[in-house]
Amino acid sequence: MSKNYKIAVLPGDGTGPEVVDEGLKVLDAISKKFNFTVETESFDWGGDRYLKTGIVLPEDAGDTLKKFDAVFLGAIGHPDVKPGILEKGILLKLRFELDQYINLRPVKLYPGVPTPLADKTPEDIDYVVVRENTGGIYTGTGGFSMKGTADEVAVQSMVYNRKQVERCLRYSFELAQKRHNKDNPWRGLSEKDIAAGKYSQLTLCGKTNVLTFVFDLWDRVFNEIASDYPDVKTDYVHVDAACMYMVKSPHWFDVIVTGNMFGDIITDLGAMTQGGMGIAAGGNLNPNGVSMFEPIGGSAPKYTGQGVINPLAAVSSVGMMLDFLGETEAANAIEKSVSFVTGNKMKSMSAGQMGYSTSEVGDLVIENL
Ligand code: IPM
Ligand code: MN
Repeated sequence: MSKNYKIAVLPGDGTGPEVVDEGLKVLDAISKKFNFTVETESFDWGGDRYLKTGIVLPEDAGDTLKKFDAVFLGAIGHPDVKPGILEKGILLKLRFELDQYINLRPVKLYPGVPTPLADKTPEDIDYVVVRENTGGIYTGTGGFSMKGTADEVAVQSMVYNRKQVERCLRYSFELAQKRHNKDNPWRGLSEKDIAAGKYSQLTLCGKTNVLTFVFDLWDRVFNEIASDYPDVKTDYVHVDAACMYMVKSPHWFDVIVTGNMFGDIITDLGAMTQGGMGIAAGGNLNPNGVSMFEPIGGSAPKYTGQGVINPLAAVSSVGMMLDFLGETEAANAIEKSVSFVTGNKMKSMSAGQMGYSTSEVGDLVIENL
């Protein structure tokens, strides 16, 4: 029996709806090829609705989304709404309510895509960042005292408990195991590593030299559970050094795991090295619940309605969604087609310079599935 998936669609603001349309077009085409069906329902949560109604997100939004198999999100962010309201009120709220504790952000340079890193090729840039997605500084723990006075104090704390850290690390070890095996060891390993039965690598990215409480906890749990994953080589980098290596030696990385704030920052760096926001996709995952997939680039309001924005990040996030739902072959087909289109068709990944319109790029992906 063919499967049916119920997908909630949140087109959002700015160019979100345009790229979402292309993602859905590809989803429709791939479902026919791989013999599954998709039912979508769209929700107009975003800046325009907020400006009209004053409501950022309906009270029962989380419960509504829990009835779906996955969520496909365009972009949140409106030029007429003060920064923070929509981001916190929609994106972060949903991540927390749906307990999407993993933010998965592949950093992959597709063929033909220009990278600002001189001499780096798709061989060099192909890793995944696992960003913890519901804890850390993002919990909003803190506040002001003596606000508005000269003695004002503001505190915002990095908060993690062991369970949160452990579930994120275990997910990351398992992801590393999934990416490589005996027949396909990660090419960054030495002969000695492989002889010792290591096939993938997990790098913990922290700041144990300064954040001696939070990253001490991460580091201890990392080392405690590593023995459960004997085929994964472990490594550690401080976050500042990680930024250097992501530029200088990206081929050193296979899977990187890090906390929420560091993950936010380093994945924007990673996205630039893979050719920019037009191509970077991400998933907010609850491995036991409802996950949400999104192009990580934002709403790019200045390009709204022009048909010039790159939809490939949205298309790739549909691929990630299918992979998560277990439609691995369909996901691989999308990834292959995206590679073909970047390698053989498009002039650039930047808005207005692709050599094609937004919907023509969607068509190209479909033609080459
Ligand atoms: C991201 C974004 C969000 C974040 C913002 C919009 C709240 O930058 O998804 O990376 O900080 O997580
Ligand atoms: Mn970000």
